[in-house]
Amino acid sequence: MSLILVGFMGAGKTTIGQQISPLIHLPQQDLDDLIIKKAGKPIPQIFDEVGEAGFRQLETQVLESTIDDAAVISTGGGVIMQTINRHLLQGALAPVVYLKTSFETILARIQNDDNRPLATNITAMARLFNQRQSLYEEVADIVVDTDAKSPAFISTEIMNQL
Ligand code: S3P
Repeated sequence: MSLILVGFMGAGKTTIGQQISPLIHLPQQDLDDLIIKKAGKPIPQIFDEVGEAGFRQLETQVLESTIDDAAVISTGGGVIMQTINRHLLQGALAPVVYLKTSFETILARIQNDDNRPLATNITAMARLFNQRQSLYEEVADIVVDTDAKSPAFISTEIMNQL
């Protein structure tokens, strides 16, 4: 069975996707990686050249073309910002798993990450974090708290709920 992982930057979507994919014998698809491939440039450069709006267009395109793949799909933290993406996620064949992580944990993991254009300023990040919580909940079929848990433990918890 396929699976779609959502959650804020640094919630562990890529890591958990990598852990679960061999357990359910499906390849992992990472939307950020697909966007980078499609654009032929890294995410900060996409933001510099076409802005967040241009990045979001690419994100919707890769989500649309991937969403019903037999795969473990790791999304980017902002995928839920677009109404069209939320509709796609709600209509997906696969269950959507929200990796719920506290802001403190997120900060400890990713503050000032050069590869994340939206993670450079704590106040702006906190605003995004608060704004997005209800949107992750809105698309999620399964919610898993990830604070202070190992990737292996989180993966087992998800598997038990499928
Ligand atoms: C974003 C999260 C990033 C990436 C881009 C925008 C966001 O993915 O898609 O920098 O808006 O939260 P990760 O959640 O994998 O960091």
